[in-house]
Amino acid sequence: MDLKLHIWRQKGPADKGRLVTYELPEVSSHMSFLEMLDVLNERLVEKGEEPVAFDHDCREGICGSCGFMINGVAHGDQKGSTVCQLHMRHFSDGDEITIEPWRSKAFPIVKDLVVDRSAFDRILTAGGFVTVRTGSAPDANAIPIPTETVEHAMDFAECIGCGACVASCPNSAAMLFVGAKIAHLGLLPQGQPEREQRALAMVEAMEREAFGACTNFRSCEAVCPKEISISGIARMNKDFRKALLSGVGFSSGKKR
Ligand code: SF4
Ligand code: FES
Repeated sequence: MDLKLHIWRQKGPADKGRLVTYELPEVSSHMSFLEMLDVLNERLVEKGEEPVAFDHDCREGICGSCGFMINGVAHGDQKGSTVCQLHMRHFSDGDEITIEPWRSKAFPIVKDLVVDRSAFDRILTAGGFVTVRTGSAPDANAIPIPTETVEHAMDFAECIGCGACVASCPNSAAMLFVGAKIAHLGLLPQGQPEREQRALAMVEAMEREAFGACTNFRSCEAVCPKEISISGIARMNKDFRKALLSGVGFSSGKKR
């Protein structure tokens, strides 16, 4: 198939950036979306032009590195899929495709389609862990946990930190991401000792970044490649409220 691509090109954070149009003939429907971009880049390099920068690693939908807007939808409009799992068979000959980076003040553009998502890392550093001494790997049945609880926690643990939720939210809220991390640990027995402190620390870290507040658009849930439920946000709010009422200290050491 022959495609017309409109791709956001931006040399660096200080550059204004603009959409550049590329004609890309003879694209195989068997290619993944990223392979299609690889082909474009090979052709650009052959012509002595700068290839398009985009993030990727596993190309199997598990690492969370890839991600950009395709025709205005985070990861494209194939439900429950990352960009690396999207295939060209979902497009047609003659299609025009607009490809842009995540748009959020909290995710500044590094180059072309690459954004800086270190705001997520700072939130995780604030509380996305357990400090319980786990020692060496315990027997699988050493801490009995009901299967339903494990599966519920796993539904939230599937978050790959891609940032599509932030990019598609009109407020640039990071609540689906933070709610997923808090719910994942808060559902398991190992996550109980620091449950309230964790919610406070991670919400505090989220507030320090340039993310907006949730106003229940639910566009995060609609585009999430791992189909994380907004019920994680409800769990986060519950833990946060409980922590405030019980006077658990913030990571800064202050009490509220
Ligand atoms: S909640 Fe979904 S969209 Fe948001 S970072 Fe996690 S996997 Fe990506
Ligand atoms: S490259 Fe790892 S999830 Fe897409």
